[in-house]
Amino acid sequence: MYSSGNLRIHDLTAEERAIYATLKPKQMPAHVAIIMDGNGRWAGHRLLKRFQGHQQGADSVQLVTETASRIGLPWLTLYAFSLENNLKRPRSEVNFLMRLLKTYLESNLQRMMDNNVRMKYIGRIHELPPEVQDKMRWAEETTARNTGTTLTLALNYGGRSELVDAFRGLAAEVKSGRLSPDCITEDDINRHLYTAHMPDPDLLIRTSGEMRLSNYLLWQVAYTEIFVTERLWPDFRGIHLLEAIADFQRRERRYGGLGEASGTVDEEAERAKIVAV
Ligand code: FPP
Repeated sequence: MYSSGNLRIHDLTAEERAIYATLKPKQMPAHVAIIMDGNGRWAGHRLLKRFQGHQQGADSVQLVTETASRIGLPWLTLYAFSLENNLKRPRSEVNFLMRLLKTYLESNLQRMMDNNVRMKYIGRIHELPPEVQDKMRWAEETTARNTGTTLTLALNYGGRSELVDAFRGLAAEVKSGRLSPDCITEDDINRHLYTAHMPDPDLLIRTSGEMRLSNYLLWQVAYTEIFVTERLWPDFRGIHLLEAIADFQRRERRYGGLGEASGTVDEEAERAKIVAV
């Protein structure tokens, strides 16, 4: 159940409100992560340049964030720029994405404040251009005291490199004698992830139909429900976030157990079945 102080349902569109009304308040996800894919295809279908797809994608970022803040979603984490994008895309596209991020932050900061959104980042941020880092820090500091949705942008992010960074941190603790290798737990690994301050995602949405994780939050999505839509990111809106949450609420999360549908397990009967095989 979300904190009622952060709900602004009256600000949803009529269509969004209709879907929101069908949701179960006690089963809302605390953390939604999104792989925003399909900007290039969106542009290609319209005979536009790829950068125009990214520009339209930035508008989707803002609109989806605002819907998330109206429904009081505590954590929204968007894959905006992967380490692989940085290494493998043409420099001209990478430079454009960096400029877009900077202008996005400048032109949307007031809207973040109006929507009580707190901004954070995960990834190897220190490798981004210094002027982009300055703008990011400015947006993070300006929104730091907001209490609504935390919007985390994954930038120059890779799940494996996050694990490498975490293991380096753990190794340093072991070397200094503060931690014994035999005593390392999952919590210790969590403590060293970029996401240490947030819960694991309940729901991962991927746009534009691809069925892969693309090196996103590899450790954190162990029990996350995955929702893939054919819709391309520049066409994704708040209403589609609500549809994904409705689908999520129809799932049964079992975390490796047997779940509600199987009822109480009759252990004797189960053992007899195993022996009979
Ligand atoms: C995937 O589309 C998207 C990206 C590589 C970057 C995501 C960027 C944005 C949504 C816009 C900027 C974001 C912010 C926060 C300002 P793609 O180019 O891989 O699409 P394709 O697979 O159709 O080619």
